[in-house]
Amino acid sequence: MATTLTSSPAAEVLAQLYANAERSHQEFRARMDSLPPTERPEGGSREFFAAAKDLYMAVRPDTSKLLYILTRTRRARTIVEFGTSFGVSTLCLAAGLRDNGGGRVIGTEYEPTKAEAARATLQSAGLGDLVEIRDGDARETLARDLPEEIDILFLDGAKEMYVEILELVEPNLSPGALIIVDNSDRSPELLEVLRNSDDYLPTAVADNVTVALRTA
Ligand SMILES: C[S@@+](CC[C@H](N)C(=O)[O-])C[C@H]1O[C@@H](n2cnc3c(N)ncnc32)[C@H](O)[C@@H]1O
Repeated sequence: MATTLTSSPAAEVLAQLYANAERSHQEFRARMDSLPPTERPEGGSREFFAAAKDLYMAVRPDTSKLLYILTRTRRARTIVEFGTSFGVSTLCLAAGLRDNGGGRVIGTEYEPTKAEAARATLQSAGLGDLVEIRDGDARETLARDLPEEIDILFLDGAKEMYVEILELVEPNLSPGALIIVDNSDRSPELLEVLRNSDDYLPTAVADNVTVALRTA
């Protein structure tokens, strides 16, 4: 049976996003290489994300399928995403919600041009009705109006904020919720929190992705 992720229009939109992501990566690299090292913004800083406002930084294709699969297997209805960028991961999560019968992904994005582009993309993928993207710093936009029960938290924004974002969302996580962490190798603080708590059962599922079950 075909899935929303692998059918028109989402499949074509996703392919186009990956083509754009590759191009944006090449352009960003060339721009950074042309700067003296002292003028390159530090990775993960607010300045870095501002300089990278055209850069997709999208999840890898295997991770995008993993997001869809986990959304389906968890039978998720409510998802919070830290770091939306141009919406590659958001599209995969929303496709999973569509095939689960509906729900809501709350995305978060610093850069207003990225948030706007992601909204348009999700519309053209036929998934706009399932997505709310909150503009601004997620530490503020996720501090209010969260759904009572959140089934999946996907972390893919500034790595040093992962623990803070988990703490914000934690009271609303449903029993059996999943925490999906991209680039988890770059957030040792979060891995320590997840590994040292009886409330989470984390495991590495790929080089740079960790999934944790909320056991409480
Ligand atoms: C790695 S990219 C996200 C990629 C996206 N999940 C995808 O797969 O297409 C990280 C994004 O998080 C945004 N970001 C970083 N820290 C943030 C914060 N505190 N609040 C909101 N957005 C943030 C950046 O602007 C950037 O676009």
